[in-house]
Amino acid sequence: MPVRSQNNAWVLETQHTAYALGLNPAGLLTHRYWGAKLPYIEDYPAAPAPDGWASFNNPPQRTPEEYPTFHEIKFTEPCLKTTFSDGTRTTVLAFDRAEIVGEELRLHLRDQHYPLTVTLHYRAYPDYDLIERWATLRNTGSDPIQLERVWSAQWHVPEGEPYHLTHLYGHWMGEFQIQRAPLTQGVTVLESRRIHTSHHHSPYFALDRGATETSGEVWFGALAWSGNWKIAAEATDFGSTRINIGLNDWDFGWALRPGEDFVTPTTIAGYTPDGFGAASRTLHDYVRQTILPHGNVIHPMLYNSWEAVFFDVDVESQSRVAEVAASLGVELFVMDDGWFHGRNLDNAGLGDWWPDEKKFPDGLKPLVDRVNALGMDFGIWIEPEMVNPDSDLYRAHPDWVLHFANRERVTGRGQLILNLARKDVQDYLIEKLDKVLSDNPIKFIKWDMNRTVSEPGWPDYEGEAREVWVRYVQGVYRLWQTLRERHPDVLFQSCSGGGGRVDMGILRYADQVWPSDNTRATARLGIQEGFSLAMPALIMEAQVTEMEREVSLTFRFHAAMCGVLGISADITRWSESEREEARRWIALYKQIRPIVQLGDQYRLRSAQFGGGLSGVQYMRKDKREGVLFAFRTYIPDPALPQRLRLQGLNPEARYTVEGFDGVKSGAGWMRQDIVVPLMNFDSIVRRIHQV
Ligand code: GLA
Repeated sequence: MPVRSQNNAWVLETQHTAYALGLNPAGLLTHRYWGAKLPYIEDYPAAPAPDGWASFNNPPQRTPEEYPTFHEIKFTEPCLKTTFSDGTRTTVLAFDRAEIVGEELRLHLRDQHYPLTVTLHYRAYPDYDLIERWATLRNTGSDPIQLERVWSAQWHVPEGEPYHLTHLYGHWMGEFQIQRAPLTQGVTVLESRRIHTSHHHSPYFALDRGATETSGEVWFGALAWSGNWKIAAEATDFGSTRINIGLNDWDFGWALRPGEDFVTPTTIAGYTPDGFGAASRTLHDYVRQTILPHGNVIHPMLYNSWEAVFFDVDVESQSRVAEVAASLGVELFVMDDGWFHGRNLDNAGLGDWWPDEKKFPDGLKPLVDRVNALGMDFGIWIEPEMVNPDSDLYRAHPDWVLHFANRERVTGRGQLILNLARKDVQDYLIEKLDKVLSDNPIKFIKWDMNRTVSEPGWPDYEGEAREVWVRYVQGVYRLWQTLRERHPDVLFQSCSGGGGRVDMGILRYADQVWPSDNTRATARLGIQEGFSLAMPALIMEAQVTEMEREVSLTFRFHAAMCGVLGISADITRWSESEREEARRWIALYKQIRPIVQLGDQYRLRSAQFGGGLSGVQYMRKDKREGVLFAFRTYIPDPALPQRLRLQGLNPEARYTVEGFDGVKSGAGWMRQDIVVPLMNFDSIVRRIHQV
């Protein structure tokens, strides 16, 4: 039973961990414990009741409340801030009752005076050692209640020694950079205010007190939301550390109407004593098994037209490329930007989602048929949330974009953002995209989102206009969900100028993502490493391109084979020997991809911090087979041996590693380095077999 309850105290148990909370003597819902599972229920500490010994250091300041609100003499971060209709701005929650529904614990709280109830949801995932949290607010009265901050949770880690916070930062062309730094007193804020998840920070965190890739305690988590989000990591002046996570409260507003609910996004978090690698593998399994629509299905090897021809697509040129693609072993042919009405450059066409009459006079069908006849599935690129001022859609509905009255509508990449919060906008897009998908046997959608927000206004909305931040994302989700339901065979990719929308919210609808527009293999190694902190290789599209031709085709293939392999290059210009090499790597990839996409990933040496040598290994779940990739970029010293250490083998079983002498036990391999034969800008892929 994953939830154990005793006298208003609860313990959520997973296979190896426990999370305990309960009412303290003052009746406050407080955190008690989060870490390794203990033998007896008595082992978990009681709900803490700090005593007050000075008005400045009073108990509310020092109580680890599970869902603190703005009230009392305390200045640590609250999860909830509201204004009631008479102007009262504090929320005073009292415990009402608890409910256990399967693996979920629901704690119902209500305001002492005002008609607001708050339900805190806790769900244990025993197999993944993860706990999921979210909150539901209900207005049980007759006047609206203004919500100003509603976070999903406050996560408490054990008090005492300070922590390091690990998070991901970056920018367009350089996403998923790993930062691990001491969390000092005060609040560290990571966030997006850009209306999408953003390239700049990811809604992911990890805390440790000296963990490594393979050892040490790590508390980690993420938020499932694809819009404005916030993490406020607070190290209090009393030695406690909290991660607040949820919707961004910046410019947020929501008028909770009588009888209505507001449900926050979910946050997932876990604990492991086995380092960052174990934390990542837990999240990989969780994403594949519980979030993705089809997390056990191998993803196809694709070709994408973008870096070969950009907007210059038509039946003839695409057919010529498709023939070469098919001869290499490509399974899915994706036509990127440029196929729809009036789209010749990035300054026109967005919004008009039907085939361009000049490029495709008979629709997409002739091209799709030719691609299918070559034995490949067909896919297209779309960017539904956008509109170019130069489009039929914008000329007909200039009020459909996010905007403010009397303000210039600032374009980004020549485009404006449609107000997806509006049902009429959603319905238009559903109709148009549904038609494209119904008219043609399309099996793949690349869903892009190429700018961030300005003028987040909705002038003709009659309610609280700042709701647009959340309603926009809800609208995006409705669009994905409706199209998925109507076209269940289609594989969806989430792209936002590369990795601008990679989060556990979109992954309920998207099968895979485009991590970065930067396809230079040497840069991708680091981007892929950061990506792997929270996300599995199954969803990580990786393509061989010509952005970095100075690096060998072999190296570029190896780097892309660490995820879902694809190619985006003018392959009609590849020499016969290049094509032959591509065929070889694609054939090998098809053999190893069940291990890469569905197995366990081990980061052997960091591409971001490893000083020019990096290694990553994938093992089948039963540990019988694996594959090792190693990369050397530039290391000036030619004499230094390049060392890696395998992981994840069964210590007792015996293994061979292709290219290395001998049969050794798993322990034998894992207790000694191997020296990888790499020159600068060299790479290897080696298979590992149990004998
Ligand atoms: C974005 C994507 C690219 C490509 C272009 C098309 O930049 O990240 O992969 O699809 O848009 O305009």
